[in-house]
Amino acid sequence: MPAPGIDPARVGEVHDHELRRLVEGRPRTLALLERARAHMPNGVPMAWMATDNDVPVYVERGEGAGFTDVDGHRYLDVNVADMSMFCGYGHPEIVEAVARRAREGTQFLLATREAVEVAEELAGRYPVPFWQFTLSASQANVEAIRVARAATGREVVLLFDGHYHGHFDEGLIDLQDGQLVPAQRGLAKATPGKIRIAQFNDVEGLRRALAPRDVAIVLTEPALTNNLHLLMPQPGWHEALRALTRATGTVLAIDETHTHVVGHGGATRRFDLEPDIVTIGKSIAGGVPLGAYGMIEPLASEIDARRAPFAATGGTLFGNPLSMAAARAALTRVLTPAAYEHTGALGARLADGIETAIRDAGLPWTAQRFGPRSGHWYGPEPKTGQEALELRDRLLTWTQRLWMANRGVWEALPGAGPTLAVPASAADVERYLDAYTSFLRAVAS
Ligand SMILES: Cc1ncc(COP(=O)(O)O)c(C=O)c1O
Repeated sequence: MPAPGIDPARVGEVHDHELRRLVEGRPRTLALLERARAHMPNGVPMAWMATDNDVPVYVERGEGAGFTDVDGHRYLDVNVADMSMFCGYGHPEIVEAVARRAREGTQFLLATREAVEVAEELAGRYPVPFWQFTLSASQANVEAIRVARAATGREVVLLFDGHYHGHFDEGLIDLQDGQLVPAQRGLAKATPGKIRIAQFNDVEGLRRALAPRDVAIVLTEPALTNNLHLLMPQPGWHEALRALTRATGTVLAIDETHTHVVGHGGATRRFDLEPDIVTIGKSIAGGVPLGAYGMIEPLASEIDARRAPFAATGGTLFGNPLSMAAARAALTRVLTPAAYEHTGALGARLADGIETAIRDAGLPWTAQRFGPRSGHWYGPEPKTGQEALELRDRLLTWTQRLWMANRGVWEALPGAGPTLAVPASAADVERYLDAYTSFLRAVAS
């Protein structure tokens, strides 16, 4: 549906004009794309790099809060690689830690001192003392589900409409017209039978969904960030979620993969949550692959290696020393309380500017505020995934991305922001706002 206050015909014109401009300014990109298509579907190593972009970007190098493409265009990166580069590009502490570890051995299938320190650091941030490591947040969620199934003897996984927790079978089930269906091709048709989907912020719906006491785990972000529109928890929601999961013997897992940027201790600390499991990944190792999950004591016993068989977890490269060295540097040297304060202040400034731009353009939209992340809803704040769905306008979002890219701002996925990374500055906020304000003026009716 077209967003309110927008002239859809005008959006179409702006889209075509901006796409032409983008293509014309990128001869090396186009040449590389042509060459790449001979050996990679879509010309990129992973399909999302093409599906989320009108023309794939080939990056030359990253530095601080941005990167430069092969045609020499420099971008301020407010997508922060879908939150995985919140630490910024080439942070000297991370570079040094990775270089040292590369010289001293990147993989032994044995533990290193850094792993102990990373587990201690995470346990200090989140109220779950026992940690395990994977290579991605997706895999951390897979293992969290297995641990919960092992502990409860139940199989059903409860998710909220508008969820995203990674590319694994159980996580890729969507609610469409009241039916649970695999979100993409190639997924087992039987998986929806193990999934239940309720609406975020709907206490009565959640109560009904948990009532049969067959749910092993509720897996949710503390605020849903992946819905093309942010869904914030409404007052009382998290208290009800915790009370109902406890009352029904259901494991509660909070996925902090995106939200840990909102403060030291993530949204779990901000909202004072009491999860049984916390899952996390992306920027915790400064962009070096790492996923992690922490859990309370009774769940940790499910992966006690003296117990046979223990819950199905592990992988040859999981918890490898390179990821751990990067994570130690990222967590202790970059993602400090001062860094969260700095990025939170920039985020507030960004939200103020977005609010002003919306008002000045006469649009009935709402600015988002969530630590270093801002953005807008195309209307009043939605409370559930269903409400958020009605606020989507893909063409408009797509066109904004092109407009911003042509003005040196990389904003790939609305699910991620715009978010200010640790090295970002007040000048970067102004740069974003200049481009954003001119975009609203161009498309408002
Ligand atoms: C909340 C959340 N959890 C997990 C993931 C999966 O992360 P990855 O793709 O790094 O495995 C994502 C990815 O966007 C996410 O947003």
